[in-house]
Amino acid sequence: MDSPTTPMISRRDALIVGAATAAAVSASNATPASAQPAPASPTAASAAGGFRTKLSLNVNGTARALDVDTRTTLLDALREHLQLTGTKKGCDHGQCGACTVIVDGRRINSCLTLAVMHEGAQVTTIEGLGTPQNMHPMQAAFVRHDGYQCGYCTPGQICSAVAVIDEVRRGIPSHVSADLTARPTLSAEELRERMSGNICRCGAYSNIVEAITEVAGSKA
Ligand code: FES
Ligand code: FES
Repeated sequence: MDSPTTPMISRRDALIVGAATAAAVSASNATPASAQPAPASPTAASAAGGFRTKLSLNVNGTARALDVDTRTTLLDALREHLQLTGTKKGCDHGQCGACTVIVDGRRINSCLTLAVMHEGAQVTTIEGLGTPQNMHPMQAAFVRHDGYQCGYCTPGQICSAVAVIDEVRRGIPSHVSADLTARPTLSAEELRERMSGNICRCGAYSNIVEAITEVAGSKA
């Protein structure tokens, strides 16, 4: 049990510290674009029997060069090769949304796609959206509305929410859009449908909806 003199850390503090750590690791691992080797063609056989390939990605605005087994998912490339651990592995089967990142402007489940399929792509992870000192409006809204409890699903929720607002702005309909030719609005029904791929086991859904609604109405 904590003594009266033991410092107590709230989960809000823990989230902010976690985000700061991820951003710091990201920054420390960033390599200037000028120092990156040119992309090479696949196919040196690895000791384990697979094949390796060189790959370049632009991650959070920085050119990154990778040398990966061709079977490496984008999620593992981000987490294990680039140490961007803000993106979470939940189910590793495309069912929870914890691994959501934004690739070339579209949200995807990074556990369901191979890194080699994204040569030259622009990848945005939670570390690229904002920092604890300079949060993205969606991150700030999640903090304001308590849109999390344990925080494990939160990076995926926030990346997904940012992309959802962009989808609506671009007029992309969803499964519940009544008129596929009309510009959609982010009604509660639309929002819940579009965010339905992001599961929160803590059940913070109502606060997540409040946070996204606030940002959608305030020009994020
Ligand atoms: S870890 Fe990718 S959807 Fe669950
Ligand atoms: S905040 Fe815990 S799973 Fe969503």
